[in-house]
Amino acid sequence: MQVFDHTKYQPAPRVQNNDRQWPDQVISQAPIWASVDLRDGNQALLEPMTVEQKRRMWALLVSMGLKQIEVGFPSASQHEYDFLRWLIEARQIPEDVTVQVLVQAREDLIVRTFEALEGVHAAIVHVYNSTSPTQREKVFRQSREGIVEIARNGASLLQREARKYPETRWTFQYSPESFTATEVDFAVEICDAVIDVWQPTPQAPAIINLPATVEVATPNVFADQVELFCRGVSQRDSIVVSVHTHNDRGGAVAAAELALLAGADRVEGTLLGNGERTGNMDIVTLAMNLYSQGIDPQLDLSNPDEMIATYRECTGLPVHPRHPWVGELVYTAFSGSHQDAIRKCLAVQRDDEPWDVAYLPIDPADLGRDYQAVIRVNSQSGKGGIAFVLERDFGLHLPRWMQVELAQAVQRESERRKGEIGGDEIQQIFHDHFVHDKAPLRLLDYQLKRDGSDEIAMRIMHDGEEILLQGAGEGAIAAFVNAWSRCSGQRLSVVDYSEHALGEGTDAEAVAYVLLNVDGVRVAGAAFSKDTVLASLRAVISGLNRARLAVEVAA
Ligand code: KIV
Ligand code: ZN
Repeated sequence: MQVFDHTKYQPAPRVQNNDRQWPDQVISQAPIWASVDLRDGNQALLEPMTVEQKRRMWALLVSMGLKQIEVGFPSASQHEYDFLRWLIEARQIPEDVTVQVLVQAREDLIVRTFEALEGVHAAIVHVYNSTSPTQREKVFRQSREGIVEIARNGASLLQREARKYPETRWTFQYSPESFTATEVDFAVEICDAVIDVWQPTPQAPAIINLPATVEVATPNVFADQVELFCRGVSQRDSIVVSVHTHNDRGGAVAAAELALLAGADRVEGTLLGNGERTGNMDIVTLAMNLYSQGIDPQLDLSNPDEMIATYRECTGLPVHPRHPWVGELVYTAFSGSHQDAIRKCLAVQRDDEPWDVAYLPIDPADLGRDYQAVIRVNSQSGKGGIAFVLERDFGLHLPRWMQVELAQAVQRESERRKGEIGGDEIQQIFHDHFVHDKAPLRLLDYQLKRDGSDEIAMRIMHDGEEILLQGAGEGAIAAFVNAWSRCSGQRLSVVDYSEHALGEGTDAEAVAYVLLNVDGVRVAGAAFSKDTVLASLRAVISGLNRARLAVEVAA
């Protein structure tokens, strides 16, 4: 029998939406956010969070600005009951934050849930039952009517218990669990039955939460389901339509976004997408998607590294280095052409203009990421990235012809190491490659007379012997070149030259770069000195020494 056999599966049932409006909508504001980290996220962990970890996660969620936070299933677990009691009794719930708790539509569990919430200033009680044909027929063995009756009964029990605690501001929430696999007309029917019991108003709305308990189709199908639901459900102005997507097909964020286009007001999810199986909808990704479009996400995501640290501590899970928006590598470019484009765009990006940098959809600094990480060098990198790193880290502005040669040397080294090359190592390669001003030629001292044309006198060590060179020309370099050509018999000319100070002040060091033509062969050299003339003379010496060494190697 063939094991990997696609004929075992059938496509998700089609949804007929003849008046589809959502493709023309745009998202212009953040949804109401609800975190389910401490419930759906927690229940999916290999080792559920300890009390201490839950407290830390709670503090993180509150500090990030989440105002609705599902904290667990208090009727089903003593641990979750106790945590909820601690939140209430230790006054950990800010006035503008509402705790949410989940409960099945069963009387004993509902009674205990309200007991667990006693004394809280506000709470969302979230009741659910499963509604898809598979759940109805195979798991619960109930007709549609039977399933509706479970929901209606649960809704009534919530109402009855809430009346016993009038000091609390209650909000009721109902989820037709497995909504994505449920016929839309049945989802409307069962939610209408619940709404009929609760009789919400625009001032005191109920929440109807539509879960993609399992993501079974493309996000556009989910959007059709949500749009049809919003169109069909009764008292639309008195309910908050919420979505709760899972990531089975990798589309949880996209499905939630399209659901917002289709009329949803509220989104449930978790930080970084932890949750059952492939996870819940990732609140961080959706919020950053909004942010990058100029929409206030109404959440503080300015310190993702702290968030990631707490997330790791609490869940024991790693965060992929390429996780959207916040992964360690997402603002790093290795490719040469990307690096070049980023460097050019950053150079002209102004603070008072909208962000517009190739390959960087947002400014990494917004997330506390510095530019150190933006451009990193490996064998895929080109001269642009290498030049960027030398400029950024060491203030070296290499001329183009030197960048090209250096890039080849760096590439060879990174291929040899099969990995990344850091800024310090690039600088070392630059030095080893271009700065050769000690042997076989070494400048001991010089005197320059500047009246009309420049005259230079230099003491030079040449293969261990001291020689005196004298020459004239326009500028110190030309004078040196003339002197050396006469003395050595070599054909020597300067093809290009540049220099700049490193840092500021009279004490600043200077660096000089020179491209020589020595007997018809181009060779580059560089040198450093606090004296700019000395730097340029030594750069020529570096070039001459490199030419000599190259000849020796070739010979
Ligand atoms: O995924 C799901 O369906 C749920 C419900 C309880 C909302 O987590
Ligand atoms: Zn879920």
